[in-house]
Amino acid sequence: MNKHVLALLIIPAAMILTFSFMVPPKEGGKMGDFEYKDFDKPDYCGSCHDDFYQQWTQSMMSKAYTHHWDEIEYFKLAVPHSRKDPEMEGAHEGCNGCHAPLSYMAGDVPPPRPEEGSRANESVSCEVCHLIKGIRGDTAYNHNYIVQPGFTKYSSRKGEKSSPEHQIQTTELHSKAKFCGICHNEKSPYGAWVKSTQLEWENGPYSDEGVQCQDCHMTKAKTKTAKMGATYDDAKLHLFHGAHDPGKLNGVVELRVHPNTREAMMGDPVKFTVALFNQKTGHKFPTGSVEDRILWLHVEAKDSEGNVYHLPVDKKGFDGEQYTIASDAKAYQDMGLPLGKEDFDGVQREDVPNGDRIFRMPFFDPKGRMTIMQWNTKSTGVDYRIGPRETKLETYTFNIPYDIAPGELKVTAVLNYRLLVKPVGELLDVPEEEYAVHEINRHSTQITVIP
Ligand code: HEC
Ligand code: HEC
Ligand code: HEC
Ligand code: HEC
Ligand code: HEC
Repeated sequence: MNKHVLALLIIPAAMILTFSFMVPPKEGGKMGDFEYKDFDKPDYCGSCHDDFYQQWTQSMMSKAYTHHWDEIEYFKLAVPHSRKDPEMEGAHEGCNGCHAPLSYMAGDVPPPRPEEGSRANESVSCEVCHLIKGIRGDTAYNHNYIVQPGFTKYSSRKGEKSSPEHQIQTTELHSKAKFCGICHNEKSPYGAWVKSTQLEWENGPYSDEGVQCQDCHMTKAKTKTAKMGATYDDAKLHLFHGAHDPGKLNGVVELRVHPNTREAMMGDPVKFTVALFNQKTGHKFPTGSVEDRILWLHVEAKDSEGNVYHLPVDKKGFDGEQYTIASDAKAYQDMGLPLGKEDFDGVQREDVPNGDRIFRMPFFDPKGRMTIMQWNTKSTGVDYRIGPRETKLETYTFNIPYDIAPGELKVTAVLNYRLLVKPVGELLDVPEEEYAVHEINRHSTQITVIP
């Protein structure tokens, strides 16, 4: 071939190639904006970022689509609900925006079941977070990310060493709580805030002090950020440990119980006060999936012969208090529609000893019934969760029974937690580990009963 002809062929080809590198990949983030092939797989990033990759695989981020309870809620409730209730049309699509963002952006909705091994299983992957270059609007919520796939990854640090595989564009967003709010704040189709972890944080003491979500969930340590990279004093670990980590839950709230007198006679009323101090969370406790979680205080007295008396909490008299005291009430009737159970009258609201104080915020469906289907929430009730660094006081007045054994009376307060209310877990065949009781803390005090 004549070399002029060759040049005629090569030059335009080279121009097209250069041009295609110059044209920035389009930005987006809404349903169907991209294809799966626009995103790298996590194990590819993990080939160099080996430690972060291993940390991430142990976190809930990597299981947001595949985790059993997520699969159950999505396929047993959300998908059928959005087909059966005209008001809920498309509600199941939004779930993927946060739980399986690649499928959402690839328009693969609903995605195949986890066992089919599709790319939905990558859940909240490296690419999801590191291709986010901004948010749409001012408030971060309902997956309003702006994503730009390609060679450029976005993060807070432009490293000392560079990577052959990508370029880094620094953003302030990645080092701020607002970044997390993209998925950790959620508004229901009825306009109710059903997840507001970042907003709770913003209204609490930690935001004023500049303590971000990352400081507690992506803690800083001296290590490398890539295996061939430099060592940094403040490398941000990808732990994302939360309510599924027993260690994170242990001692979140400190308890102290004291009586108003150290000696009492049979028939006397004695008042025990429990102080609950939230020393560990940067937001309320519980936060996030508030509709599922349950935190309750159980108080018992034991006399010198070992007889046990359950002490119900003293009522305070605030609006909506009935939702914060355990009872036999039934709830969650709205699950009847997606489950195809006509005239479903619900299940027990909590399965916690009656009279125990519950720290929660109830969510209500359009008919005013309590719901765990957060997308079906029209309004929320009393917010009786424990705020960051808040101390709540609960009192228990115990009328010393006439048949009690005299001598030492020991009173113990135990704060218990479940990721999911038990009757709902049982109804939907959720593995038991999801509603196993986790003890957060306990404390005891004594008085003497005089005959
Ligand atoms: C071939 C190895 C390699 C692969 C594959 C790779 N990276 Fe990197 N990456 C590096 C190196 C090296 C650095 C610079 C590390 C340093 O600062 O010392 C880096 C830096 C980064 C940084 C900036 C932080 C820093 O320490 O500089 C981010 C964020 C990042 N990579 C994300 C990703 C993501 C997401 C993927 C997958 C899409 C990925 N990387 C794939 C090697 C790689
Ligand atoms: C693209 C959406 C998205 C972004 C951005 C995001 N998360 Fe998450 N995160 C999720 C989803 C979805 C889950 C729920 C996983 C599951 O199904 O249990 C989750 C779970 C968690 C958990 C585990 C909670 C538990 O129950 O154990 C923690 C902790 C957490 N995220 C912290 C953060 C922090 C800190 C940031 C910001 C640096 C952040 N997340 C940013 C979507 C996101
Ligand atoms: C939920 C979002 C999220 C996911 C998922 C995620 N990252 Fe990150 N990553 C961040 C944020 C936010 C930062 C910056 C934290 C800060 O500045 O406080 C970061 C920082 C980094 C850094 C730089 C660390 C440093 O100290 O500057 C690297 C490298 C990195 N990520 C790689 C990865 C890899 C590889 C994966 C997948 C295995 C991954 N990330 C998954 C949110 C995420
Ligand atoms: C001062 C430390 C601290 C800060 C700041 C903080 N958290 Fe947490 N977070 C915790 C602790 C401790 C827990 C475990 C107890 C619990 O479940 O609330 C937790 C739990 C969580 C959970 C799991 C909640 C659940 O019930 O499943 C999520 C999600 C979470 N945090 C996200 C965030 C986000 C997003 C931010 C920033 C807006 C943030 N955290 C800021 C300490 C912190
Ligand atoms: C705006 C983002 C967002 C949307 C939309 C969203 N989720 Fe979530 N979801 C999260 C985050 C973040 C968490 C983790 C909160 C926590 O740990 O308490 C979560 C937690 C959950 C959990 C509890 C996981 C566990 O392990 O305890 C289930 C189940 C769930 N979501 C299902 C759904 C379904 C079904 C939909 C759609 C109807 C949906 N989510 C919509 C962000 C979202």
